Amino acid sequence: MQAVEIKNLSFVYSKGTPNEKLALDNINLSIEEGSFVALIGATGSGKSTLIQHLNGLIKPQDKKQSSVIVGGKNAADKKTLKTLRFEVGMVFQYPEYQLFADTVEKDVAFGPKNMKLPADEVSRRVKRALETVGLDYNEFAERSPFDLSGGEKRRVAIAGVIAMEPKILVLDEPVAGLDPAGRAELLALIKTLQKEVSPTVILVSHNMDDVAALADRVVALKDGRIVADGAPRDVFSHRGLIMDIGLDLPTAARIVDKLEKKGITLSKRIITMAELKDALLSIFKKRAKKRGNNMGYAQINAVTDGDKNADKNVEERDEASLVDEKAKGDESSPVSDEKAEGDGAKDENDSGSAGGGEDV
Ligand SMILES: Nc1ncnc2c1ncn2[C@@H]1O[C@H](COP(=O)(O)OP(=O)(O)OP(=O)(O)O)[C@@H](O)[C@H]1O
Ligand SMILES: [Mg+2]
Repeated sequence: MQAVEIKNLSFVYSKGTPNEKLALDNINLSIEEGSFVALIGATGSGKSTLIQHLNGLIKPQDKKQSSVIVGGKNAADKKTLKTLRFEVGMVFQYPEYQLFADTVEKDVAFGPKNMKLPADEVSRRVKRALETVGLDYNEFAERSPFDLSGGEKRRVAIAGVIAMEPKILVLDEPVAGLDPAGRAELLALIKTLQKEVSPTVILVSHNMDDVAALADRVVALKDGRIVADGAPRDVFSHRGLIMDIGLDLPTAARIVDKLEKKGITLSKRIITMAELKDALLSIFKKRAKKRGNNMGYAQINAVTDGDKNADKNVEERDEASLVDEKAKGDESSPVSDEKAEGDGAKDENDSGSAGGGEDV
């Protein structure tokens, strides 16, 4: 079953004025129920305009040509609009700005109350939503949302959305402005929400590490058009396309490209630090065996541990460990896609050039 089916959708802002702007240009997109889709694209590419069509905040301008069907309902149909607002939970950037009530409980209860649910069901949902976002009901229910920390405010705002138990959760840059710990917690929460509350998730993000870690499908927009659509490692393996769209690569993929310049060829399908670590480990193991020494795990750990410093570490360690590939005359050991996915055990007997077709 498709959670979302968009056909021939275009959207123009300020039509007929000098500021006219074609924000969406003939979008066709189906999203299967249960998928985690990352919507990526440079600033101004149309991501927010697109997602606002999913709960009728923006209506298709040309109802004859285009259609937006969400959960089997036509988003342009006034009669279904209210239900749609409950079924599609929208978490906008900085959702905490939308907090309004004088207590956390009232704020989170606003959506379920609007759904005209019985009082005990509203109360059950408020409790569940607060617990799900990691806020203790007894501690927070009576507090003013405005007295909370930034991260807590955001959790309350998200609780307000998930208290409606939407089938589809749409998040527009949900971790913007949070510190690293807050980011990590919220991203983990989004995964939990998918399991427990909203089976279909659409995440708008500029952070390609988050996309690589979370999404099972990436849809990339450029100038209002879909220019890439596929599994993250497929999309990110097309380096030229990613550059053309004006996006970054995941950190691990950037390191792969840096290492390639130094003569170490790894699969272009590596997108997470864990995969990079596996790939490097397999090379080092092979080298160590050849040299009869145990240049080892600690060194690789130092290179790959912690996304933040990974690039820096690799550069610092160039001389020491990694750049000697060509100089020492070792044949390079391309790491296949399979190994990139964690199959390092067979490496010892691997004769080197592996398949995959993507290796340079
Ligand atoms: N209310 C508006 N009036 C006029 N033009 C708009 C309006 N909102 C967006 N646009 C324009 O439409 C295009 C798409 O904007 P949109 O906000 O959908 O992009 P986005 O991909 O979400 O960007 P960002 O990553 O910066 O959030 C941009 O060129 C933008 O300037
Ligand atoms: Mg936007």
